[in-house]
Amino acid sequence: MTALERVDRAHTSYRSGARGPGLLSRMRERRAQREYEASVLAFAHALRGEFREACTGLGICHYVQVAVGVTVRTPRVGEVRPGPPLTFTVELLPGQEPGDFVRKENAPRLAHTLGGHGLRVEPLAGRWVRLVVLQHDPLCDGFGLPSLTVAAGAEAVILGRTEDGVTLGHAIADPAHLGVQGQNGSGKSAFCYGLLSQLAAAPDVLVAGSDITGLLLGRAWDDTAHRPHQVTGTADIGAHAVLLEDLVAEMDRRLEAIPPRRDKIEPTLATPTVLVVLEEFPGLLRAADGLPKPKRGEGVPLGDRIRSSVLRLLSEGRKAAFRVLMLAQRFEATAVGGGYARDQFALRLSFRVPADSLEMLHGTDARHLGQEHANAAPGVAYLSGLGRDCERIRVPHLGEYGEYCDRLARHARRVHR
Ligand SMILES: Nc1ncnc2c1ncn2[C@@H]1O[C@H](COP(=O)(O)OP(=O)(O)O)[C@@H](O)[C@H]1O
Ligand SMILES: [Mg+2]
Repeated sequence: MTALERVDRAHTSYRSGARGPGLLSRMRERRAQREYEASVLAFAHALRGEFREACTGLGICHYVQVAVGVTVRTPRVGEVRPGPPLTFTVELLPGQEPGDFVRKENAPRLAHTLGGHGLRVEPLAGRWVRLVVLQHDPLCDGFGLPSLTVAAGAEAVILGRTEDGVTLGHAIADPAHLGVQGQNGSGKSAFCYGLLSQLAAAPDVLVAGSDITGLLLGRAWDDTAHRPHQVTGTADIGAHAVLLEDLVAEMDRRLEAIPPRRDKIEPTLATPTVLVVLEEFPGLLRAADGLPKPKRGEGVPLGDRIRSSVLRLLSEGRKAAFRVLMLAQRFEATAVGGGYARDQFALRLSFRVPADSLEMLHGTDARHLGQEHANAAPGVAYLSGLGRDCERIRVPHLGEYGEYCDRLARHARRVHR
């Protein structure tokens, strides 16, 4: 039996012991309490030893020269709470930072030594931090998306759940463009099935855009108010350019019509928030750039028309209630219309990607997360934005593709006749 199991058993017998008025039961209760306290002390002692060894092994320690040779100093452990989750406070050594425990591979190794799956570090006052040992990967469990729709763009849709179980929401009316990257099969499209199905019924939201795959947009939206503003397939790339240019023209009309003393359009039924979905956008650009170019003076190449329309929607659309949702396997500057275009995404999500792609979209803060994330399961993503640090989330899953079609057929806004 491990020290932690002893704590558990002593705690159970202390809590479940009979509490009666008699002297005997009071004595029994006191003994159970003493045994519980002793088991916690024994556990804390064992934990201090394991933590010290783990720190030494990982080099989170100081080597001090003394007369008889070298001695190792490790961060001091303060209060231990068996939990669950197991938490304990630690005093950092001079020169150490809270991040040292979660740097590179330290966190999982420390956690595994202590019998957990992961580690969270919470800075306390002064040089003290609290370490929380997570018992299992909270993102292993998928979570289903109930058949929900928002009644207005100002209402938050569910984006995902964080490692500490917080459900994150985002309102499409908030002025942020969304960038989503991930390798093939990492769950980008499935995430958007969930997102778009939640938005499809709102009377002040229009789901428009371009989708060369024809799965996210297109047929599933037939007979809805959104469908006329969507272009799919690769047979007619020109149609994608025309749609995007029409959206830019609508944006310009709205920008001209901003009322005096206002700096943005308020979405209404007549001027809904337009979500411009760009599924596999680098693929659209590649297809457009692969077509024969018009002769000099006979028009602008399709790829350039698409790039410049999207750039205008990204840089000027927010005030006019336009939001861009771009999906790409990799947010390389050249693949998404330039570094300036990439900088316009306030909300950024990365499903499984190689470490360099993660850093490209989330900055150097995400560097130490890269190695683990390169093997992330479908539906697990890193999120930056919403005023929070880059963090790992699991996005909700609505199920099979057929369920997406059913939900749109049931809820999506229809044309008023
Ligand atoms: N949130 C999720 N939870 C569980 N499985 C998922 C999730 N998202 C996607 N998947 C699985 O991964 C597969 C690929 O997802 P998909 O969205 O098509 O990837 P991508 O668009 O990035 O290529 C799906 O068919 C589904 O089985
Ligand atoms: Mg896809």
